[in-house]
Amino acid sequence: MGSQEQTTLATQNQLFYGTFIYPKTLTDLEYLHNTAVAVDQNGTIVAIEPDYDLSQAASTFFPRLGWAPDSVSIHSSLASHNQFFFPGFIDTHLHAPQYPNVGIFGKSTLLDWLETYTFPLEASLSDPAKARTVYNRVIRKTLSHGTTCAAYYATKDVTTTNLLADLCLRAGQRALVGRVCMDQLSPKYYRDASAADSVAATRESITYIQSIDPTGAIVRPVITPRFAPSCSAPLMAELGKLAAETGLPVQTHISENEGEIALVKEMFPAKKIGAKGDTYTHVYDTFGLLTDKTILAHGVHLSEEEVQIIKARGSKVSHCPCSNSALTSGAARVRWLLERGIEVGLGTDMSGGYSPSVLEMARQAALVSRHVAMGYRERAKLTVEEVLYLATKGGAELVGMKGKVGGFEVGMEWDAQLIGLGRDVVDEEYEGEEKEEEGNVDVFGWESWPNKVAKWLFNGDDRNTKKVWVKGRLVHERK
Ligand code: GUN
Ligand code: FE
Repeated sequence: MGSQEQTTLATQNQLFYGTFIYPKTLTDLEYLHNTAVAVDQNGTIVAIEPDYDLSQAASTFFPRLGWAPDSVSIHSSLASHNQFFFPGFIDTHLHAPQYPNVGIFGKSTLLDWLETYTFPLEASLSDPAKARTVYNRVIRKTLSHGTTCAAYYATKDVTTTNLLADLCLRAGQRALVGRVCMDQLSPKYYRDASAADSVAATRESITYIQSIDPTGAIVRPVITPRFAPSCSAPLMAELGKLAAETGLPVQTHISENEGEIALVKEMFPAKKIGAKGDTYTHVYDTFGLLTDKTILAHGVHLSEEEVQIIKARGSKVSHCPCSNSALTSGAARVRWLLERGIEVGLGTDMSGGYSPSVLEMARQAALVSRHVAMGYRERAKLTVEEVLYLATKGGAELVGMKGKVGGFEVGMEWDAQLIGLGRDVVDEEYEGEEKEEEGNVDVFGWESWPNKVAKWLFNGDDRNTKKVWVKGRLVHERK
């Protein structure tokens, strides 16, 4: 598939009008009403006009932008349908090939789950036809839930990892795509033959992904050691060097499950690898895998010492609440991480987690934080505003797009969703009108906007995600 046909440019200037809600800070959402947001052909926000009279646009606003009025397409959020624009969600950790297994985990925990469910499925996705079916589906499904950017693990197979990047580029979903490195622990049928092979295959995939999107606007490669137990010391050392050489991001798993942590201690004693300490974090640090572009999934059981190292390196944590509950890994202390200055995003971790929805992850993050609060302290609780920050602006920090996506500000790119909660409930049928698809959220009309957002967080789903844009391009529309 060539790169030429996959133009990711929006075709024309666009004006979005109505209500805009986005995280300003970790603790505060911004609400803008009757606002006009101008997005140019590159998908960049070039102007924001609060309290704007749309009828004036053609005579005043467009000339100021140098836009011919008939060159602009206008998209309004409908107040009558409780619609608003919200930044696209960022899924900072998921496994595309595991998508067919969502919901299938029985009573397993991490290490037996990998063996029983995960490795066989991933291995089977070296079949390009099967991979195409699964990857197209996971892209379309996550887009329909408002995920405008995803940090994907593919498999160890180069051809189909590259295919995943092709498909993301064509669909217009921003993605980090990682060819999974693993030269030990897994069954022979699904393991790199050597550290050298693993690095060579990784380089091959990086070269390909960079060739289809040279500026990395939509798809970018990410160095992906699966997790310490499935990587030999020489492999991790080589991948650390590769990260330093290329400046590329790194993604891996850390401190997810107690059995896994014990295994890491046993496999990589400090003495053997020349580490300065005896923790999981020291293993990655020893091999140069903790950079300011490293996304560490889970971090459920990290110690104070480990968090200090992660903070010093500028590495980030992807919180995966659904997976951590499903696989009984534990309850990550997100407040505790945030208080130590760690940047945190949310990950579905399919199929450790069973849901493709980052909105669902924000909801589960709120609930897991309440479980932490019950056993620890009140301030662990995360608010509606905080979990929606993690789902958007927080995620942008993890995927290297801080200041570029995750909010609505001049200079940022238009990665957005149009959310509709439906008409206010009234005690009658809407006769003579086409009935709007009913979602799960009921708005009665007296709710404040913060309360509408809270109702969306706790009861909303993809039925509320009406349209989705990436870099100005419409990539999903709910029919
Ligand atoms: N650790 C190593 N591989 C995996 C994986 O595929 N999913 C999760 N959740 N943890 C892992
Ligand atoms: Fe994972």
